[in-house]
Amino acid sequence: MNWVSIERDRCKECGFCVSVCLRCFAKKNGRIEAFANKDNCNLCGHCVSVCPTNAVIHHKMNMEAFIDLNDQGRIAQRDFINFLQRRRSHRDFMEKEIPLEIMEALFNACRLAPTGSNVQNVGILVLQDRKKIEKLIDLTVDYYRKLIPQVEKRVEKLKMEGKPIPLDLKWTLKRKGGLKLLVEKRTAGGDPIFHRAPAILIFHSTPYTSVPKDNCVIAAHTLALTAMTMGLETCYIGLFEGAFRNYRPVAKALNLPADHEVFSVLVLGYPKFKFLRTVERKPLKVKWVH
Ligand SMILES: Cc1cc2nc3c(=O)[nH]c(=O)nc-3n(C[C@H](O)[C@H](O)[C@H](O)COP(=O)(O)O)c2cc1C
Repeated sequence: MNWVSIERDRCKECGFCVSVCLRCFAKKNGRIEAFANKDNCNLCGHCVSVCPTNAVIHHKMNMEAFIDLNDQGRIAQRDFINFLQRRRSHRDFMEKEIPLEIMEALFNACRLAPTGSNVQNVGILVLQDRKKIEKLIDLTVDYYRKLIPQVEKRVEKLKMEGKPIPLDLKWTLKRKGGLKLLVEKRTAGGDPIFHRAPAILIFHSTPYTSVPKDNCVIAAHTLALTAMTMGLETCYIGLFEGAFRNYRPVAKALNLPADHEVFSVLVLGYPKFKFLRTVERKPLKVKWVH
C-alpha cells in the first residue's frame, strides 16, 4: 500500500517533496509520483511540511498535527547567542518542587528533538523520591571509591611488567583527586553526584539503534534549554553515567527496561543563584579542508 497520496488538483509539480525525500518521491514523465511504504518511509513528515499547496497527504501520519508555521517565533541571532551564553551548569537548587505541568511541558518540547532514522525512542526516567536518589548516590560513590585503588593496582602491575598504561587508566588516574573529594563529600553527608536537585532525568534507550547516545543527548539538551525559559536550570551528570555502565549495582537499582542503557543524565531544579557574567571558551579546533 502507498502511504502517501498526492492531490492532483492542488499539486503544482514544484518537486519540493522530491527534493526532501528521494526515497519516497520521484518525477516521472514530468509528473510527481509518491511510493512511500514501510521500507522507505520513516515518518519524518518532510513531504507534507514542505508542500506549498497542501497537496501531499500522508495516510500513516496525523494530518492535523501539521500546523502552519509562521515567522513570529523567529529568534534574532544576537538574542539566541545571548541565551546560549546564559546556559551554565547549576549545582545549587532551591528546595522547591517542579510542578507537574512544567515537567510535562518540558517533555513535550523534548519530543521535538530529532532522532537518527526518526526512531523517536528516547526514554526518560524521572527520579524525585529522595530515598531512591540517596541510594543511587551511595551506589555511585561506592563505585568511585572502589575504582581508584583498583586502577592504581592495575597501573602498578603494568609498570612492574614494563607494559604501557592504557589511556583510559591514565584518564582515571588524572581524575583521582576529584574522585577522592567526591568520596569525602559523601562521607560528610553531601550529595556530590546529583547536587541535591529536586529532579533527576535519566535519558535512556536501547543501544540497538543507529545513534542512541546522540538521540539521548540531543533530547537532553533540548530539554535543558527549554527549562531555562521556565526559570529552571540543569547540569549534566556524566559521573552517574560512568557508574551505571561499569557498576552492576547501579544498573540494578535503576531498573531500566531490559537492554536499555543510560546515555545522558540531567539534574533539574530552580537555581539558588544567577550567573552574572559570561565566560571565555577555548577556540574551537576547526580545520578547513580545501
Ligand atoms: C556530558 C557532560 C557531563 C558532565 N558531567 C558532570 C558531572 O558528573 N557532575 C557535574 O557536576 N558536572 C558535570 N558536567 C558539567 C561540566 O563540568 C560543565 O558543563 C563545564 O564545566 C562547563 O561549565 P558550564 O556548563 O557552566 O558552561 C558535565 C557536562 C557535560 C557536558
